Amino acid sequence: MNGFPVGILGTGMYAPERRLTNQELETMVETSDEWIVSRTGIRERRIAAPEQATSDLAYEASLKALAAAGISADQLDLIIVATITPDMFFPSTACILQEKLGAKKAAAFDLSAACSGFIYGLANAAGFIATGAYQYALVVGADCLSRITDYTDRNTCILFGDGAGAAVLGRVPEGRGFRSFELGADGSGGELLNIRGGGSRLPASEKTIAERNHYIYMNGREVFKFAVRVMGNAAEEALRKAGLGKEDIDLLVPHQANIRIIQSALERLNLPEDKCLINVDRYGNMSAASIPVALAEAVEEGHVREGDRLVLVGFGGGLTWGASVLVW
Ligand code: COA
Repeated sequence: MNGFPVGILGTGMYAPERRLTNQELETMVETSDEWIVSRTGIRERRIAAPEQATSDLAYEASLKALAAAGISADQLDLIIVATITPDMFFPSTACILQEKLGAKKAAAFDLSAACSGFIYGLANAAGFIATGAYQYALVVGADCLSRITDYTDRNTCILFGDGAGAAVLGRVPEGRGFRSFELGADGSGGELLNIRGGGSRLPASEKTIAERNHYIYMNGREVFKFAVRVMGNAAEEALRKAGLGKEDIDLLVPHQANIRIIQSALERLNLPEDKCLINVDRYGNMSAASIPVALAEAVEEGHVREGDRLVLVGFGGGLTWGASVLVW
């Protein structure tokens, strides 16, 4: 990367208290704990309380990231919230978060890249800091997928959960921080994973609600194939841009959609499971929150040491993908 070296100064995560277990899902749709665990690796997910919206989850994660970084909210120049479940169409969840935090001088905007959103957000924020335009940025991945999940559809309702993860970015010493970003999109796959209703194409109406167009639609088999292909490709390309090889990876922090997708990425990168943060069993897929929550847990649990080389990699609706190599 050109410009000033930029890295992560602090991370934080928040997951709502309520757990939705496979056993509970067995009472809601025709499924079984055995099927869910063997096909996805997921055992439970967190569900936001009725009074919680995405910005509330984002706020909790942000407070922890700011404390870890030793930065106060009024020092922030920029807030980016990656989400597909904003509190409302507008104002942006980033603006709502800016107000909650009291980050008075920060510019704020939301970013829509589904499960790849956090990595897209990191790339954006890192660019602003690398040029010297900004000093500190807060990047949040936050989603309340329970609000857009159809709990009568067994193909999707077993997968998703709610949560938020945050990172404060700033300048770091030479030789540390982000080494590369690899972002990509393939809009031709947009119909594989989407919410059709409620936008300008198909405004919310009694008909869109009756047809359940306000819920996530997914072609799981096709998304699975795409994910397996793109996770390895994106990680390898990010490594190549950073001038590193697979053998240089100390920790992989992948998007947590399905244990089988993560295992295929590990195979492709020749990595053992202990070089990978896996929490899909406890949270399911939290979309933009998955990678920053996994990263925050890796830091909290002492899996990340100074000088370690991390690869973050994810994929999602759009279709989109993103990977980054950074030296901690
Ligand atoms: N419980 C029991 N059976 C289920 C089920 C459930 N919760 N969900 C689907 N099935 C059934 C299907 O109806 C299908 O039955 P059929 O063959 O009679 O039609 C059968 O299980 C097998 O379905 P298949 O799609 O082949 O399963 P799979 O091994 O591909 O696993 C997913 C399904 C969704 C877990 C998997 O495709 C996946 O993880 N895809 C990626 C999803 C993803 O990552 N999305 C988010 C992107 S950010």
